Amino acid sequence: MERTFAIIKPDATAAGNAGAILTRIEKEGFNVIGLKKIHLSKKEAEGFYAVHAERPFYGELTDFMCSGPCIVMILEKEGAIKAWRDLMGATNPKDAAEGTMRKEFGVSIDNNATHGSDATDTAAYEMAFFFSELELV
Ligand code: RTP
Ligand code: MG
Repeated sequence: MERTFAIIKPDATAAGNAGAILTRIEKEGFNVIGLKKIHLSKKEAEGFYAVHAERPFYGELTDFMCSGPCIVMILEKEGAIKAWRDLMGATNPKDAAEGTMRKEFGVSIDNNATHGSDATDTAAYEMAFFFSELELV
């Protein structure tokens, strides 16, 4: 079993789409082993997306991520990292395939509804950033 880290971003949480996204996650066979609703500070958002610190969109991205509450999760499934990336769809909702979370719930490349870890090492960093092993069930 593989674990990955997921976020229902502030746009989707504010729009009331968290329930629909969670329903889909469960339907696709993920086991939600960690979940909490949090409101990131700017510093926490910067730490979480530190990998993008040199990118031109870093300021906007971290402003957006602390603009309201979001829901952070750890999902477990065989091949969870790729499976959740596939279910999310392309970064830009305009390019996302039918039936993906970003196609259905994303508004723009900035407000794209969900986050998912992109590799084993980033998944490990992101899970440990938000959850302790004791919180996983
Ligand atoms: P995420 O990390 O949020 O799951 O998204 P991702 O892997 O699909 O995309 P990534 O390259 O990691 O970018 C992180 C977030 O930054 C915003 N972004 N803006 N303006 C741009 O060119 C641009 N590129 C990326 C997106 O909101 C993306 O989710
Ligand atoms: Mg990414």
